[in-house]
Amino acid sequence: MSSDVKLGTVVGLPMDRVDGRLKVTGGAKYSADIPVQGVTYAVLVKSTIAKGKVTKIDASDAKSAQGVIAVLTYEDKDMLPEAQRGKILPGPEVHFSGQDLAVVIADTLEHATEAAGLVKIDYAPEAPASVMTPDLLPSAHPPASNGRRVTFERGDVTSGLSAGSARVQQVYTTPVEHHNPLEPHATLAVWEGDKLTVYDATQGVTGTQRTLSSLFGIPTQNVRVVSHFLGGGFGCKGMSWPHVSTAAFAAKVVGRPVKLVLRREQMFTSNGHRPETRQEITLAAGKDGRLTAWSQSSYTEVSPVLEFIEPVGLMPSIMYAVPNLKIDHHLVTLDVPPGTYMRAPGEASGSVGCEIAMDELAYELSLDPIELRMRNYAEADPQSKLPWSSNSLRECYAKGAEAFGWSKRKPTPGRNKDGKWLVGYGVASATYPANYQPASASAQMMADGSVLIRCGTQDLGTGSYTILTQIAADVLGVQPDRVRTEIGDSSLPMAPGSGGSTSAASAGSGVYVAALALRSKLISMAIGDGKVEDVQVHNGVLAIPGGPRSMSYADIVRKSGQPSIEVTTKAEARSNDRSMHSFGAQFAEVHVDADLGTIRVAKCVGAFGVGRVLNAKTAESQLRGGIIWGIGMALLEETLMDPHFGRYVNMNLGEYHVPVNADIPDIQVLTVPEEDPYVNAIGVKGIGEIGIVGCAAAIANAIFNATGKRVRSLPITLDKLM
Ligand code: MOS
Repeated sequence: MSSDVKLGTVVGLPMDRVDGRLKVTGGAKYSADIPVQGVTYAVLVKSTIAKGKVTKIDASDAKSAQGVIAVLTYEDKDMLPEAQRGKILPGPEVHFSGQDLAVVIADTLEHATEAAGLVKIDYAPEAPASVMTPDLLPSAHPPASNGRRVTFERGDVTSGLSAGSARVQQVYTTPVEHHNPLEPHATLAVWEGDKLTVYDATQGVTGTQRTLSSLFGIPTQNVRVVSHFLGGGFGCKGMSWPHVSTAAFAAKVVGRPVKLVLRREQMFTSNGHRPETRQEITLAAGKDGRLTAWSQSSYTEVSPVLEFIEPVGLMPSIMYAVPNLKIDHHLVTLDVPPGTYMRAPGEASGSVGCEIAMDELAYELSLDPIELRMRNYAEADPQSKLPWSSNSLRECYAKGAEAFGWSKRKPTPGRNKDGKWLVGYGVASATYPANYQPASASAQMMADGSVLIRCGTQDLGTGSYTILTQIAADVLGVQPDRVRTEIGDSSLPMAPGSGGSTSAASAGSGVYVAALALRSKLISMAIGDGKVEDVQVHNGVLAIPGGPRSMSYADIVRKSGQPSIEVTTKAEARSNDRSMHSFGAQFAEVHVDADLGTIRVAKCVGAFGVGRVLNAKTAESQLRGGIIWGIGMALLEETLMDPHFGRYVNMNLGEYHVPVNADIPDIQVLTVPEEDPYVNAIGVKGIGEIGIVGCAAAIANAIFNATGKRVRSLPITLDKLM
């Protein structure tokens, strides 16, 4: 682009969040906080069996309870187009414990909650299968949808296996985990005639808009979805789950606004989870440490109601230069709720098998684990054969090892002691795709020289408001406090959903392109035929060679006679002749009580190559958050199933353990400078997910280095070290 503007004056700074004050003062209105006249409250009634059939629903007591306006069940859906009737309140068949069967709408939350307990449901239950036990593996089936994302083959894995002189053959497992954002799912549905407005805690306002327009058979422009603030999403707010449609349906039936907020325990069955995985991995390598074969059979559980595949084979398919590779994927259908995207879907779980297996191979070969990875560094994408757009893995290992003090590691387990504590060091690689989708945005210059940016993306709490403000300020040459950014509304220019670390790259490029177009337009208005790129702008004032001494954006708008100057643009699609991924290196130091097996993580260092960093503060916060979650994944997180009832048993934050401050050690986050001209207009790779990838494996590897005990099943609780 001829009129490119170099980012880096405001972009990159560790700027405070532009919405920080609103959040700490309570001024930020989340979906459930929006005041609406005449609002009513909905409470879901969920199945208590995992498999079978409802034989009778008796809602008569609930209907006559105080304050109740309506009780809807699967028998009451004749207002929906016929094809859509199975999508909400499904029944009478029950496919998992926690399936929505009815919804109670009342004048207060208390009345709705009370009445929900009065709905009597009789069942004909059947015995569920709810855990991926070994006896179920032969019943596994291949994916019906999108299998290309999970199965990979190159070279000849059989001859590759026999060519190796060292071998690792092991099984790695990860449990069901849940997202647990601080803000639960919340939907507030308001109808005005045949127009629907939904305030929803969603990672994708346009996706939710499409779901609702199709459900009710109304044009998309009749549905407006608003999500100004989110208290975290992590993937569970990436899809429009049935409760959203149920709230909109209930509002239509009762003719009043309906608010539906999921209770914490309902967050374990209403909006997906990270599926349980089993990764059977065989590696072979020559004496020089170079991999000759990677053979992997992956198994993940899947719900009968929705095929979500946890793509654990993605990372091993591209991470190392192994010539012979075969990764297949099997699904075991269980009577459980659907799985879904959860922070670094695929790579978070997949890195556990991939990176513990590599550590085992390093011990097999008596090689330093970093050296083993360097010997297998892939100069290009080994699966697609495409060149990398950029790959800073080597720099990440070098910089991370230096900061961590890797040279002090004692290779033999059990040799490093601190009193009664066994000390261990571990490493693992990290990677995540640099996803991108073209986004639209508008940029508007006001007569007072302030700027309005509008883009239909949303901020999960990660800092989207802030980075978009920084990009616009940088491009236009104005102070960030002169820029107002509006996002989180489906009526704004369309941007992709926020998942797969796409938003900074996609919405960021969209705003960059819009701001650039506005800048060019304003400068052209000022200089006529002159060259736009000869003009510098500082604090909204143009420096025009040979031109008037002082002319500002505000002057240009005023001279135009229009109230403001606005442009709306869409960023371009990118070429796909490069393989585009972020890479990183994770380091962990653990201390294990030699007598009790108590594990403390003493230090974590993560070094990442993630393209351009838009805001040093929010970026570090994202990456640190990923590492904290990796510690939880390694040591704490697990949703436990009662196999008799097919029901999760720890559906609360008291028994589903996430790390607390006392669990978290000194964490150092490093980014290596990386300029990537291929990924998108602003060179951004996205950082929402890579921080967790490899962290749990680094901790597992450190535990082996400390104790000599190899634990291949997460979480690593102390009983597994006994
Ligand atoms: Mo992310 S798990 O794709 O929201």
